[in-house]
Amino acid sequence: MKFSFAEPDLGKKGVIAVAVAEGRKLGAAATRLDRQSGGAIRRALAGSKFDGKLGELLDIVGPAGVPQSHIVLYGLGKAEDLIEGKAEDLGGGLLAQLRALPDTAAAIVVDGGTGLPAPRAAAHMAYGAQLRSYRFDKYRTKLKKDDQPKLDRVTVMLDDSGAAKRAFAPLEAVAEAIAFAQSLKRLGLAIEVLDLKAMEKLKMGALLGVAQGSLNEPRMVTLRWNGGARGKAPIAFVGKGVTFDSGGLSLKTSKGMEDMKWDMAGSAAVVGTMAALAGRKAKVNAVGVIALVENMPSGTAQRPGDIVTSASGQTIEVLNTDAEGRLILADALWYAQDRFKPAAMVELSTLTGAIITALGHEHAGMFANDDKLADDLTKAGKGCGETVWRMPLGEAYDKQINSDIADMKNIGEGNAGSIIGAQFLKRFVDDVPWAHLDIAGVAWSKKDAPTVPKGATAWGVRLLDRLVRDKYEG
Ligand code: BES
Ligand code: MN
Ligand code: ZN
Repeated sequence: MKFSFAEPDLGKKGVIAVAVAEGRKLGAAATRLDRQSGGAIRRALAGSKFDGKLGELLDIVGPAGVPQSHIVLYGLGKAEDLIEGKAEDLGGGLLAQLRALPDTAAAIVVDGGTGLPAPRAAAHMAYGAQLRSYRFDKYRTKLKKDDQPKLDRVTVMLDDSGAAKRAFAPLEAVAEAIAFAQSLKRLGLAIEVLDLKAMEKLKMGALLGVAQGSLNEPRMVTLRWNGGARGKAPIAFVGKGVTFDSGGLSLKTSKGMEDMKWDMAGSAAVVGTMAALAGRKAKVNAVGVIALVENMPSGTAQRPGDIVTSASGQTIEVLNTDAEGRLILADALWYAQDRFKPAAMVELSTLTGAIITALGHEHAGMFANDDKLADDLTKAGKGCGETVWRMPLGEAYDKQINSDIADMKNIGEGNAGSIIGAQFLKRFVDDVPWAHLDIAGVAWSKKDAPTVPKGATAWGVRLLDRLVRDKYEG
């Protein structure tokens, strides 16, 4: 979908969406369009309950006297209350509506006088619309042409279109990264791939143990973006990339396995974040490390009871092969910290089903060894709508993973599963400020949200991009 910005031009064909503030208040462009259409807007308002509440929509079909096929009125709510997040939701909801119409082009008119300067409102509406426009139709071979949306161009119209265009550029880079629309090398990321041999050399026994049951070899990938001061310690992002989690010999049930293609969401968020930072040329040094492994049962699979030696030198008794995320992250966290000496480390993983029991799909679980980093993440989350909720760590939990025959075991006694997982990871982190985000509940969704179509949510890209923007740039 192509988004552009232009001065209001009400003579264009296609569908036009026009803002109406609560109390049926029309702005300057809307008033002009109303006049041009012989009062079609005011007549439609008079004949309906539409009041201009946030997100409300009213479709005026075939208005006379204007070239537009439809005029869609959209509610702004109380104009002075408009904030960035609301503008994004508004843009996303509007896009879904406009896309249901047969037109290939649409215009969205943003009038001034809102709580946000019009260029910022316009840029964030376009950003929300772009996020919502993501579709994954690759495997829908029977999708008829007629059932596919036709809309491919959206022009956002406002008086200061130049300023809106400038405000949109970095947001567009982030939106494209969220949809993975860009080639990573072209963005200027330095990419390195460790193969099986390289990981054997680095003695990543914990990761390799998980990988050994699969025909697909594991990889560890690092992505680097150096947009900050030379030599300044980077912020590191680490992601769980289990391409499929069958549970291994501790096999999951069919129901439990159904969604396990999403078990790479943490690594996808790391790649997306790196693409976003590079795409908008963020003034920061950042490194992403992703551990890519398939967890399968087979004649070569690791057995419950096996003991593996991690890259850190610590030994692990693997009592449950389905607690595999922590095993691969043990080596990935260690590697990221040892090689890059980061200023801070944020790790994302679909680590435990228990975090869904605790927090549902509303927050990711956050565990941190550093209050400042935890606060920064909490604030960034509130700012962008990807919210986190801090969970506890402590000695009493930690000792549950002591093993009788190795340095630790990979499961605890049964309760507080998400905390136990986090305690395990913590044993592979030294002094660096570190946060673990358990994203099992937020990584994919079964229903559409205003700016996030159902399916993969790319959860974490906005959060980490925001964290960098607010705390690590400059
Ligand atoms: N990938 C799963 C966690 C998961 C479950 C994510 C459901 C999303 C939805 C993880 O590898 C796993 O299997 N965790 C186990 C841990 C247990 C064996 C200690 C779990 O949550 O049951
Ligand atoms: Mn598992
Ligand atoms: Zn898993």
